[in-house]
Amino acid sequence: MDLTFDFDAAISRRNTDSYKWDGNEQLFGRADLLPFWVADMDFATPQPILDAIRNRVDHPVLGYGFRSDTYFSVIQSWLSDRHDWAVPREWLMFCPPGSIVGIQGIVEVLSKAGDSIIAPTPTYGPLMDIVAQNGRHLIRNPLREVDGRFELNVGDLERRLRPDTRLLMLCSPNNPVGRVFTEDELQSLADIADEHDLVVVSDEVHSDLVMPGHRHVPFGVIGGNRSVTVISPNKTFNTAGIPQATLVIPDEKIRRRLQSFLDRMQLNHDSTFGALGMIAAYRECRPWLEKLIAYIHSNHRLVEDYFKHNDCGVRKAPAEATYLAWLDFRRTGLEQDEIMDRLVNVGGVGLYSGIDFGEEGRGFFRMNLACPKALLSKGLERISKALE
Ligand SMILES: Cc1ncc(COP(=O)(O)O)c(C=O)c1O
Repeated sequence: MDLTFDFDAAISRRNTDSYKWDGNEQLFGRADLLPFWVADMDFATPQPILDAIRNRVDHPVLGYGFRSDTYFSVIQSWLSDRHDWAVPREWLMFCPPGSIVGIQGIVEVLSKAGDSIIAPTPTYGPLMDIVAQNGRHLIRNPLREVDGRFELNVGDLERRLRPDTRLLMLCSPNNPVGRVFTEDELQSLADIADEHDLVVVSDEVHSDLVMPGHRHVPFGVIGGNRSVTVISPNKTFNTAGIPQATLVIPDEKIRRRLQSFLDRMQLNHDSTFGALGMIAAYRECRPWLEKLIAYIHSNHRLVEDYFKHNDCGVRKAPAEATYLAWLDFRRTGLEQDEIMDRLVNVGGVGLYSGIDFGEEGRGFFRMNLACPKALLSKGLERISKALE
């Protein structure tokens, strides 16, 4: 059965060792929840990727892989065609087993214990964990809420910098709030980076999931030698189980330092399937991606309309990118723990608590809406029920 473009198809993922479906009990204490938490999709991974893996398995030897010219040229073409970014091959560094380990390497080689790293928050939790767990000090720079939309607060960022601040950790587009930062916003960050001698690490793993009417600008286009831009096909093409990530690093010294980290950690060989999946995704899955974005966009609308017509105290931030909805529960008047308890034990739904993305997320929950509309609607009804 070809499920490639049928985003309404209900595919059971239970008993496939799926973190999202089989990990509910571990995370929420209940196995029967409908999961809207971790960021992968309940849609079939596109057929060209599955075919590439199947073809490879037809050859019976699964030894170490090698990155061919094709490997690099498909990344270059993707960045050029999709993001209008011409990137020389030598700027591309890969990092098994994935984006977060690459960013961890950058933190390690460009700062030392006791230094500080600034991050606009809320942001993807592991980006903050990397800072704290490696003995660096995290400076939070809360996004500013303007009419329900979240903007970079560049003045505040500059005020909070310390003499020992080495890096600016950006999540662009932002997970969890779904903002696509404008060129002007990014330029302001680049100016600050220049003035204060910072390197900007820009996690752009959601950058291919941009909603109609918005345009993602890779930070590397603006930040040049002060940038490390991290991309990956995993969110876009639902290949998180075969991790793959690329760091785009214009500055040769930074590349050399990262390479020394990778050598020290013996991180030299990544997954054959991850590489094959990426090549098939970037080469053959554009039509699928356009249809996916249209479906995700309509799911965002569905959630917005639902809460407009069923006033249970929840509002949704406007989504410019990602398949993640940032839901504002502040009008319910309930504490974070109580909302979580009700969602899990009354509604039977699993959402990430906003404070997993920093203290600024208090009063919010993140809902993953990359699933068939029928499941999404069921989840929304359960959220309402939990708040009755
Ligand atoms: C912003 C961001 N960066 C990195 C990751 C990790 O991606 P991967 O597991 O593909 O390395 C995620 C996963 O949700 C993410 O949202």
